[in-house]
Amino acid sequence: MIIQGVAHRGYPKKYPENTLSSFLKAVELGFTHLELDVHLSQDGIPVVIHDHTVDRMTNGTGRVADYTASELQSFCIKQDEHIPTLEEVLRALKGKIGLNIELKQMGTYYPQLEEKVLEVIKEFSMLDQVVITSFDFDALEKIRQLSSEVRIGLISFGCSKAILDWSVEMEATFLSMHYAFVTEHYIHRCQELGIQLMAWTINETSIMKKFQDYPSVWVCTDELESF
Ligand code: G3P
Ligand code: MG
Repeated sequence: MIIQGVAHRGYPKKYPENTLSSFLKAVELGFTHLELDVHLSQDGIPVVIHDHTVDRMTNGTGRVADYTASELQSFCIKQDEHIPTLEEVLRALKGKIGLNIELKQMGTYYPQLEEKVLEVIKEFSMLDQVVITSFDFDALEKIRQLSSEVRIGLISFGCSKAILDWSVEMEATFLSMHYAFVTEHYIHRCQELGIQLMAWTINETSIMKKFQDYPSVWVCTDELESF
């Protein structure tokens, strides 16, 4: 049976995560969905990077929130890459692949992150190509207040009746759950409720094989070669 794969941060095994080359390779490999992470620069521009600091991925140091977008873009990432803005990413991927855009609204609090992200998505008329996800309930509730159309989904370690009730109330039709907590019970409940379940992040072949029994669950992975 075929598992629906979601390219986690692009194709991070071969290209730096959350960069254009990484995303475009996922497209080239035939992936239909990818996951990426968004923070806000000091001057209010959504930028695509996983961590709250630039240290791990670039030759710079310090918090994303303390730099303007152009300062962030001046930092080098290996393989001649840079931190892309969300705008650059949407321009490059419009019509090519479904995007799971994770709002990193935790730790650093970014006022206006929700508005700015939605603004860029609307500018590119890509509401139908994205799902906005977050660990942060408030961020998703804010997104829902701003748009009744856009698809949203909570990211969580486990599941509970409360999480499903919240999803129904918020019309959140996506749920991103740590794979270890994905049980048959919740797979069935999500199917009944019309919620697309995604398990993250599965890189071990043995675990991936288990999910072959549950083709309704999307599998977020770094191991693009295994698909
Ligand atoms: O979508 C779930 C996944 O994004 C959580 O992992 O590491 O990308 O934040 P991470
Ligand atoms: Mg993420």
